[in-house]
Parts: sequence; C-alpha cells; structure tokens
Amino acid sequence: MPTPVLTMPSVKLAPSILSADFLRLGEQVEAALVAGAQYVHVDVMDGLFVPNITIGPLAVRALRPLVDKYGAMLDVHLMIERPARYVADFAKAGADILTVHVEACPHLHRTVQSIREAGVRPGVTLNPATQLVALEEILPEVDLVLVMSVNPGFGGQTYIASSTEKILRLRGMLDALGSTAELEVDGGITTGNAAEIVAAGANLLVAGSAIFGGPRTIAESIGALQKAILKAEHI
Ligand code: DX5
Ligand code: ZN
Repeated sequence: MPTPVLTMPSVKLAPSILSADFLRLGEQVEAALVAGAQYVHVDVMDGLFVPNITIGPLAVRALRPLVDKYGAMLDVHLMIERPARYVADFAKAGADILTVHVEACPHLHRTVQSIREAGVRPGVTLNPATQLVALEEILPEVDLVLVMSVNPGFGGQTYIASSTEKILRLRGMLDALGSTAELEVDGGITTGNAAEIVAAGANLLVAGSAIFGGPRTIAESIGALQKAILKAEHI
C-alpha cells in the first residue's frame, strides 16, 4: 500500500498578532486564516509580569467574529500578574483558550478551575527557567500546555535551544498521563527549527515574526512553515 500523501499538516499554526501591523490587523489576521491558520494567538501583557504592555479583552472581542468566520480558535496568552482577576472579562470577550503562567498564579488550581467554569479551555505555561515539575499536579486539569521558548515579553527573539529537550520531556509526561492536551510552543519559531520542535512532540506552533514580520506575504510565510512541519511529520 502506498503511503498516503499528506496535504495539510496535523500540526497547527497559531499566528501571534503581536508582530502584525495593528493598523491593518483585521486584514492581516484574515490573510493568515485564509492561508490555513487554525488558531489566532493573542499576547496580553501588563507591564508587570513582563516589561511590555499590549492589549486586552477589547481586542479579543474585536477579533471574535473574524475568527468565527473561519472556524478557528482564539488562543489568549495571559502574561499578566494574578490573571484570575480577568478570567471573566476574557471569557465574555470570546476567548476559546486562556493560558496562564504558573509564575503569575499563587492559586493555580483555582485559576484553572475558574477558567473552565467560565466555559473556556484552560491552558498553563511556564517561563524558560521554570522546571516542568511545576506543572506535574495541574497537568490532568488542563487542555493545553505551552512551552515558552523565549523569555516572554517581546516578539522576534531567538529560540532557546534547550527548549527542544523540555518539549520532549513534556511530551513524555503527557503521554504517560494519557493526556490529549495540546502541546504548544511559543517564541522564536522559524522554518529552520519548526521540524525539530514538531519532532520533539509539539502539535501547536505559535509564530509571530515568522508570519507577519518577514519580506514574504503572510500566505507565503504560512506555506513555508507548513512545508517545514510536513518534513518533521515524515521523519
Ligand atoms: C512572547 C509572545 C510570543 C511572541 C512570539 O512573549 O508570547 O507569542 O509574539 O513571537 P515570535 O514568533 O516572533 O518569537
Ligand atoms: Zn504568546
């Protein structure tokens, strides 16, 4: 039997709007969705947990109808102190996924519970220097685990090489639990390292500057990343 030819990778892309042109945000997000992005990644920063300040529920609300039009997911990454304070606001604004940092939550279990009770899928994430063991107790409760492969705060940084080994270990932990949670990776993803990240066990890749920042069109950039991902899936 010949091996079936894959036309679309089963690994999904989450374009991070942080690197988009905010004056043309709708147009650029739509271009990414038309090109096959199944998630839209929204980076919320408060100037406290991370040194940068970005956007909040208002932007999530504005993106909701566009993301719905393409049957995609609104993936909201909260880089804010004590995110529990804003779960209701982001749920009301239309987030599908709310991902919180273990470092920002004194009561992580309660925060994850409150996200689920608000009708949103809970995700957890950790900074590059935080050990995976910090996730052990919460893993069975979440729908997504995000490995930060740069220090959060800015787009366009370089992938931290040791992240690949961390992804591999996390994949082992999720498989041992029988968890179907998404394993998402965020920061410094390019056509040059996407295959290695997927081969380590990631199935959802965030990309900001690689999609919105280069000389290529958004469709070309997404196509190039999909091609790189397919290579890993055939390994
Ligand atoms: C960094 C953000 C990322 C960022 C990724 O704090 O969480 O989502 O936008 O951007 P690139 O892909 O350019 O590293
Ligand atoms: Zn992010």
